[in-house]
Amino acid sequence: MCGIVGYVGNKDAYPILIKGLHRLEYRGYDSAGVALINPVGKLNVYKTKGKVAELEHFVTNKDVSGTIGIAHTRWATHGEPSDVNAHPHYSENGQIALIHNGIIENYGVLKTMLMGKGYTFRSDTDTEVLVQFIDYLRNENQCTLFEAVQAALNQVIGAYAIAVLDKDNNNEIIAARKSSPLVIGIGDGEYFLASDATPIVEYVQNVVYLNDGEIAVINRNKPLKIVNLDNIESKIDIRKLEMNISELEKGGYPHFMLKEIFEQPRTITDCIRGRINLEGTEVILSGILDNKDRFLNARRIIFVACGTSWHAGLIGEYLFEDFCGIEVKVEYASEFRYRNPVIHNDDIVIAISQSGETADTLAAIELAKSKGAFVYGICNVVGSSIARATHSGTYIHVGPEIGVASTKAFTGQVTVLVMMAMMIARLKGRIDDAKYREVLKGLLVMPEKIKEALAQHEHIKDVSAIFTYAHNFLYLGRGCNYPTAMEGALKLKEISYIHAEGYPAAEMKHGPIALIDNEMPTIVIATNVSIYEKTISNIQEIKSRGGKVIAVVTTGDSVVSKMADHCIWVPETTECLTPLLSSIPLQLFAYYIAVNKGRDVDQPRNLAKSVTVE
Ligand code: M6R
Repeated sequence: MCGIVGYVGNKDAYPILIKGLHRLEYRGYDSAGVALINPVGKLNVYKTKGKVAELEHFVTNKDVSGTIGIAHTRWATHGEPSDVNAHPHYSENGQIALIHNGIIENYGVLKTMLMGKGYTFRSDTDTEVLVQFIDYLRNENQCTLFEAVQAALNQVIGAYAIAVLDKDNNNEIIAARKSSPLVIGIGDGEYFLASDATPIVEYVQNVVYLNDGEIAVINRNKPLKIVNLDNIESKIDIRKLEMNISELEKGGYPHFMLKEIFEQPRTITDCIRGRINLEGTEVILSGILDNKDRFLNARRIIFVACGTSWHAGLIGEYLFEDFCGIEVKVEYASEFRYRNPVIHNDDIVIAISQSGETADTLAAIELAKSKGAFVYGICNVVGSSIARATHSGTYIHVGPEIGVASTKAFTGQVTVLVMMAMMIARLKGRIDDAKYREVLKGLLVMPEKIKEALAQHEHIKDVSAIFTYAHNFLYLGRGCNYPTAMEGALKLKEISYIHAEGYPAAEMKHGPIALIDNEMPTIVIATNVSIYEKTISNIQEIKSRGGKVIAVVTTGDSVVSKMADHCIWVPETTECLTPLLSSIPLQLFAYYIAVNKGRDVDQPRNLAKSVTVE
């Protein structure tokens, strides 16, 4: 939600900021803006409704000089997307400019207080209240910008990542975070600031991740200084970025989503590299090894996650119960955090998150920790808030995922869950050698099998063309492919805006079957061996009511292919790995339908990649 970029150094700030905003646009894209201090000390603020390209158009022929600046791409929370609500916001006297990611919950009280002091407001945003409050404190206390920011944040309730500029100090940016990410890149006489490392990686390798409650003083002439809200100085913990710049480009694909779908053979290879030996006889995850006793003695595993990551957690439930014999619960983080869940100190809470920044998942982790649980993370973004908030974990290592619709992260999460289940089952002595090796070998050849599944893309495109104008879809699956069906439905909903429901196939007759007619296509995943016959019955139930069936089947299937209207084939694999293959055609199907409908595939309406507000 919202992307923040900042620069101070010896180069022109504007091109760096705009390029950074493009990189962060996946976080929010309803308005954008930039604030720069020009060489004669004038603060220029330009902002407009719409995407970053519209901001670029808006600033044509305007003064964008200056070697210090901050920029923002917004996902609206308070106030509709509009020019006036776009960031940066600035104080009434034009002295201070501020960009913000998050929500200031007590903005109403602060606004009333400030209005009582004579302040007036241009926008409906909580952010404008914050910048005016900082201005007020600075004047009231006759203090520095840093001191005013510190004083303000001590009185603010809510979540924030902010960057603040003072027109009279063209050397310094003040940045702070609480529950919203910020990373600082350290160069030679220059600093970069961003919501994540994607705008920074092409300039510097050394970065510092701000922690909650920290304020950074980023001055081009001084070493980086970080203090907390109580004014205690923090140690500067410099990390090396491992990201590759080419991962942030579309690489010849029309959309990031398509690129990321086609990357999956490589991302699964990266995910299992160094974890499964070449013979497929052993899997070792250091996070499990380091906490072996906890996993061996776990009373329950509770997955907390949102969206696609929650679907991966549901697949984890099948895996951990079946192979490890551990009771599993799968919780929406947003619900879990506001209940009073029973958590025992021998429970393990596993948080799954691609971004590692999802606010609800972070809050669920804090709740679990406060109740004494051991919390394990499955994240993609290295150094993210969730990766740092958890006691231990396993990265999925699938590289940056830019498309708002999650694809390669889902298969990476499922792959990690399979490896975890295999390792724990082995440690517990609950799996025989033959099965253990079958699954590990299945993972080793998975990249090749995914390539085969991807090779169907032209056929999937043709099938999608037939159904582009359907208004509703049902997605059915059984066992571990029931969550895959839900994931397929989510993909279609979020990028094509077609209503779709994922259901366990056998639940059809308890209600949804009433919806079936020849205008309600059903996608059925029929790749599970153990419940194949049952799935066939479900297909018959749909066909006998005039429904159209698109079936995802195993190559060589000769039964379903006679019943379904259209079939999409995926290679055979061992049952617990079928979601890794059946999800591929569902990703492509959603993608092609969205393209056929002319949707903005990578930046669908109302969505943002990283949901850092609740
Ligand atoms: O970064 P996270 O995995 O924590 O994100 C969770 C959801 O917001 C995310 O999976 C969302 O549902 C995706 N847009 C799905 O494609």
